[in-house]
Amino acid sequence: MTTRSITDRLGGLAFGGDYNPEQWDEPVWKEDDDLMHRARVNLATVGVFSWALLEPEEGRYDFAWLDAHLERLHANGVAVDLATPTASPPPWFTLAHPDASTVRPDGTRLVHGSRDTYCLTAPAYREAARRMAGALAERYGDHPALALWHVHNEYATLCYCDHSAASFRVWLRARHGTLDILNEAWGTAFWSQRYTSWEQVLPPRATNWHRNPGQELDFRRFWADEVTAAYREQRDAIRAHSDRPVTTNLMLPAYQNIDVWALARELDVVTVDQYPSAPGVDAAADVAFHADRARSLGAGRPWLLMEQGTSTVYDGDRVLAKEPGDILRHTLGHIARGSEGALFFQWRQSRAGAETWHSAMVPHAGPDSRIFREVTRTGEAVARLGELAGSTVSAPVAVLHDPDAWWALGVDGLPTADLDYHAALGRAHRALWDAGVTVDFAHPAHELSRYPLVVAPALFLLSDKAAENLRRYVADGGTLLVQHASGYVDERLHARLGGYPAAPLREALGIRVEEYRPLRRDERITLSDGTRGTSWSESLRTEGAETLAAYTHGMLTGGPALTRHRFGTGRGWYLSTRLTDADYAALVARLLDEAGVGPELPGLPPRVEAVTRHAPDGRRWRFLINHGAESAPLPASAHDLLTDDTVSELPPGGCAVLRIT
Ligand code: GAL
Repeated sequence: MTTRSITDRLGGLAFGGDYNPEQWDEPVWKEDDDLMHRARVNLATVGVFSWALLEPEEGRYDFAWLDAHLERLHANGVAVDLATPTASPPPWFTLAHPDASTVRPDGTRLVHGSRDTYCLTAPAYREAARRMAGALAERYGDHPALALWHVHNEYATLCYCDHSAASFRVWLRARHGTLDILNEAWGTAFWSQRYTSWEQVLPPRATNWHRNPGQELDFRRFWADEVTAAYREQRDAIRAHSDRPVTTNLMLPAYQNIDVWALARELDVVTVDQYPSAPGVDAAADVAFHADRARSLGAGRPWLLMEQGTSTVYDGDRVLAKEPGDILRHTLGHIARGSEGALFFQWRQSRAGAETWHSAMVPHAGPDSRIFREVTRTGEAVARLGELAGSTVSAPVAVLHDPDAWWALGVDGLPTADLDYHAALGRAHRALWDAGVTVDFAHPAHELSRYPLVVAPALFLLSDKAAENLRRYVADGGTLLVQHASGYVDERLHARLGGYPAAPLREALGIRVEEYRPLRRDERITLSDGTRGTSWSESLRTEGAETLAAYTHGMLTGGPALTRHRFGTGRGWYLSTRLTDADYAALVARLLDEAGVGPELPGLPPRVEAVTRHAPDGRRWRFLINHGAESAPLPASAHDLLTDDTVSELPPGGCAVLRIT
């Protein structure tokens, strides 16, 4: 029988991390067994980067060492998330298949010596990856320690080599059919780029001046399909021998080279990695942002946090430490939003190699350390939450997320470099998080009617189908906020003619944007209602909408900046500039009010996060995390699973998981 839930095999929520015993020796393994027991570790991710050990030379596999570790972990009550090691080909592979390593847009071919030095489209690589997945599954497919399959690691590497060019052409033929249609789609009439044979078509390699935007967008789409296909191949090779659930860990923030919606549909359980890029309350908001995205990718199904750092916050050129208590707070932040546990990269901090200075559950200092004590405390907390397994989270607001729109804002030649898709999504989520509201992410073509409020930031590319979907959503009673530079281009990146955004959406918003006017760097404008805008402005006309705030500067003076349109039984709002954070938060509060959406738990002080998980049988649990510096009295006292006691107040930094009725 197929088992698709990992918690069935764990008897509770998951706690653990990447485990790389090959970096250590016997005395350390013995200590690992003891420390894992102390920390209540029940799931270890093994083998992520073990290709060189598993296949020391082409076609010869060595599983003896892995057999021993799996037996040891199993005897110690630790289940295994077994990885295929295909993200890091060993030196012999690169030397045997020089055509299978990554080529950059400028033609530089990478060599081994780091990781991710493969080309996903190279036949030798794909074949080796499939064989490896099959060999592992044949050997361990029904191993009693096995709880989950972990295909690859963070699919993301792009490649511009000749294999990639050949596969790209096959993909383009399937998408466009004829060269005439491709020429039309890519607008090759401009700059004399017309193709007269398929062999002339290349990936968007280094060239002079702007690259063709249609070519760039199609290459992104092609690559995303290639990733999904490569994942499917490994998954199917595994499924031939194993009934355990299969996943691959997505790295959401930085890696935009996958179609997360399409790939997530192929996963038995969505798993993600999350490393914040700012400390303190911003890190907590980032946890919520990624957790809400992970849950949404699996259409609300339980998901799993595959990696976080015990003390890692990436801040540009340095790694900042997490604050005391963050390990528990971040772990609960993920579980609150539907994760079936929390895993870390990695169990034991490496003493050598590229990530020697990356944090871990057992730091260089050893178990007598603040970090290991916090890990143990967190493991104990997670162990107390077993009854939550399988419960889910529901949200009253959706923020729209479309990989096509992200890619469309990554092409050359846009009016400003300020149109940062990921940041726009993050701002929308943050304003809602600050307001205490739980958020889903949804594709603009998804069914949206269950959300009283939908926010659409930076939907630069909007398909006809999605535009019609949004029109219908408003007509049927929804409240929609569309933000600047949305609906400017269609699926081919062709500009919408006659005014932006796309016609069906214009109808729902009751406006027509005639001209875009990016602001100067550091320019601040003030609107007629006293709110302030930056970065972007637009000349627009109302076509039925009311003007809520007007521009007060330059040629736009008196023109609408913020509008609202009653359309059908709903309301379409349009915001044509980027408001400052405080003014944007006030606008979001107004929209929530109009849509009748309140915070998850009214009456909480600011900075106290509240999220509820629901079981199908009606049981509910409320997570409360106090990110503020003041004690927070709770509206009512209740039983806390973490302390097995009644709580009525949360100290600064405190957390509780309340069983509620
Ligand atoms: C992840 C990766 C891990 C480790 C970690 C460091 O993206 O999957 O292997 O490199 O980053 O933060």
